[in-house]
Amino acid sequence: MDDPATNALVVEGLCVDLGGQPVLSSVNLTLPAATTVAVTGPSGAGKSTLLNALGGLQPAARGRVVVAGRDLNRLSDDERAELRLREVGFVLQSSGLVPELSLQENIALPLELAGMRRRGVRDRVAEVVAQLGLTTCASRRPSEVSGGQAQRAAVARAVAARPSVVLADEPTGALDSTNREIVLDLLLEQVERCGSLLVLVTHDPQVAARCARQVRIVDGRVAAGVGAAGG
Ligand SMILES: Nc1ncnc2c1ncn2[C@@H]1O[C@H](COP(=O)(O)OP(=O)(O)OP(=O)(O)O)[C@@H](O)[C@H]1O
Ligand SMILES: [Mg+2]
Repeated sequence: MDDPATNALVVEGLCVDLGGQPVLSSVNLTLPAATTVAVTGPSGAGKSTLLNALGGLQPAARGRVVVAGRDLNRLSDDERAELRLREVGFVLQSSGLVPELSLQENIALPLELAGMRRRGVRDRVAEVVAQLGLTTCASRRPSEVSGGQAQRAAVARAVAARPSVVLADEPTGALDSTNREIVLDLLLEQVERCGSLLVLVTHDPQVAARCARQVRIVDGRVAAGVGAAGG
């Protein structure tokens, strides 16, 4: 389990600076596949910064992040982008769907960019569209669907390639309580189906409690006493 290659995500001594200030300091995490981890902590603690670093969107000042056995520091920009397409799915608070494309075209996009053949794309999109209850609105654009439907499409897009790691930053934060529940249930079901590691940032203790492990970030560090997900 300590071998980076057998874990979905390994973080060693990660430090991130923003605007010349340290935002994350000496973060260590060892996270296997097929588990769910809630990241909690006060506003400004560094949770979103951590998620961005895990997904290769935010470079480390020191330390390393290993995703699906690949050390992000050792990849070129192109290789990192490729790894993100295949191995990392992001779900953010707002769906981030491309407004000009239908929901199903949005879901297909990362698969097409990853070079999947057209038939494979079509079949996989049809599968996640059905699983996420989007059949009746899949050909509509994001502006023509509800917030809950758009967020379900964002989940579908994130998991379509069956990534090793799904990174979710307050994915239900903009929804009403009914849709919050529905989207969270579907997100958890999808990561289980795909065998992905889910790292979920949330302020909601009830959402955090649905995850197998908890990591609390305070002042850019993993808070003492929550070693369950530490490594
Ligand atoms: N571009 C930047 N330059 C300088 N400091 C930044 C920059 N972006 C973020 N920060 C600072 O980094 C710290 C961590 O920000 P981050 O967005 O990771 O917090 P967070 O834990 O996600 O907070 P929230 O719960 O409010 O979303 C904050 O103090 C923030 O002000
Ligand atoms: Mg944040």
